[in-house]
Amino acid sequence: MMNDRNIVLVGFMGSGKSAVSRQLAELMKREMVSTDALIEKKEGRAITEIFSQSGEAYFRQVEKDVISETVELKGSILDCGGGVILDPDNLVNLKKSGITIYLRTSPDVIYARVKSSTHRPLLAVADPKTKIKEILDARKDLYEQADIIVDTDGKDVKQVCNNIIININNYK
Ligand code: S3P
Repeated sequence: MMNDRNIVLVGFMGSGKSAVSRQLAELMKREMVSTDALIEKKEGRAITEIFSQSGEAYFRQVEKDVISETVELKGSILDCGGGVILDPDNLVNLKKSGITIYLRTSPDVIYARVKSSTHRPLLAVADPKTKIKEILDARKDLYEQADIIVDTDGKDVKQVCNNIIININNYK
């Protein structure tokens, strides 16, 4: 694999993108960046605040700006917010910048991982389980446009990282 290509992790909230990015960065000795962290830095407020004070459309615009800057990086690991694939330009630009990897996780496992999370405005609803299924269903085809799909159910962070590394090495 060409060393200057980014490794771009996409997938639903709770699919393990952040933990996997951190460990992958250590294993592969690469820099890692989180688009959510860059958005919070740029805005000087938390994601939940951006959603509640300015709305989702505003958040998506800032996210798009951050993606257009982030894709200029070379050889980095990009930990992308779960909704980046909603914008067609984001998807095209991320794919151009490197290898996109979809961490695929089932709704039940996602629910188990995010049920006590307080920083995910989209899941702060009465019935998060149904909401997860709905959003996942709407996004499935977009996530599956990634170059590589890695299933994460039943795997720990290390196993997912090893799986990614094997896939990247085999990827032409
Ligand atoms: C979102 C996922 C979140 C964050 C925001 C919206 C989404 O990131 O960007 O709450 O639309 O799926 P994580 O996937 O890191 O939780």
